[in-house]
Amino acid sequence: MLMQLMNVSKRFGETEVFHRINMNVEQGSIVSLVGPSGCGKSTLLRSIAGLSSFTDGQLLIQGEDMTTVKAEHRPVVLMFQQPLLFPHFTILENITYGLKYGKDKVKKDERIRRGMALLEKVDLEAYADRYPNQLSGGQQQRVSLARALILNPALILLDEPFSSLDPELRVSIRTWVRDFLKQEGVTALFVTHDREEAMVMGDQVAVMKGGTFQQIGVPEEVYRNPENREVAEMFSEGIFLHGGFIPAGDVQMEKEHDQRTNDPAVLEGGRVKYAMMKYGLQFYFVDLPDIRQSIVLHDDRTFYDGDRVVLVRKKGRVTDA
Ligand SMILES: Nc1ncnc2c1ncn2[C@@H]1O[C@H](COP(=O)(O)OP(=O)(O)OP(=O)(O)O)[C@@H](O)[C@H]1O
Ligand SMILES: [Mg+2]
Repeated sequence: MLMQLMNVSKRFGETEVFHRINMNVEQGSIVSLVGPSGCGKSTLLRSIAGLSSFTDGQLLIQGEDMTTVKAEHRPVVLMFQQPLLFPHFTILENITYGLKYGKDKVKKDERIRRGMALLEKVDLEAYADRYPNQLSGGQQQRVSLARALILNPALILLDEPFSSLDPELRVSIRTWVRDFLKQEGVTALFVTHDREEAMVMGDQVAVMKGGTFQQIGVPEEVYRNPENREVAEMFSEGIFLHGGFIPAGDVQMEKEHDQRTNDPAVLEGGRVKYAMMKYGLQFYFVDLPDIRQSIVLHDDRTFYDGDRVVLVRKKGRVTDA
């Protein structure tokens, strides 16, 4: 196991951000961490990196107890939302900074050799002598990644690294980063607010809420079988009814007056809030006030905002929920 969190807790004064949480991260795997704003994702990353400390519990990296080891002696790097490059240093100088001033000072030729090798890997060797403001946002994030990896960390922590990029660039850079981390065999813990991004990036996804992990698992599994309503709301599409999860793909809506309400197929009543288009398909956002949930459903038929509808199971579908 590359990293193990064993019953770690974090308190700021009286407030406990998370309580006795556990996680195992395998060598070479990428774990996506999702959860509502303020649930403690950044605090967890900072504590793993050693920029903050756990109040309780133990952190092991490659089997070694790192709980009280200083940040600079942990084999961990933390990458932020903003690339945070030094504006008056060239790209090559930015990347090799850690080798020059880090704990084991590396000679100049060797610094340049290693810096150029990494720049080549992130496809920016032609930019070695440029300054950060002469690079695009995506290129700067690639530089920032190269800088993080030059010290060969065992673990890289990424705190919403793409959220300052525009949506299109974000989609292309995340697959690039995933492939890159996989190629290099780097283990990563990756925070995002974006469910799709969490699914694309992570071998595993950890859903954090209320000071604990609600569920940790393979993304598709968590998506299909959320363990509780919190997970379903954050990570899945569907509704919780009578204690069971019904995926959105198993239900459709009908206009309320077209459907006998005593029909056993009827699951719940709702109201269309608005329509939206995605990937050329029409979707409806439907409020379900009685169970205080909502659902997004694809439907080719026309519904209007405010239409009263009922959710019914799709014909030919049998689920055990
Ligand atoms: N230095 C601090 N002192 C006191 N409270 C703090 C400190 N840092 C964070 N907190 C609190 O801890 C909680 C978790 O914060 P954190 O930044 O980890 O959340 P997050 O999950 O990263 O949120 P976001 O998704 O918005 O980035 C918040 O309630 C925050 O106010
Ligand atoms: Mg945060």
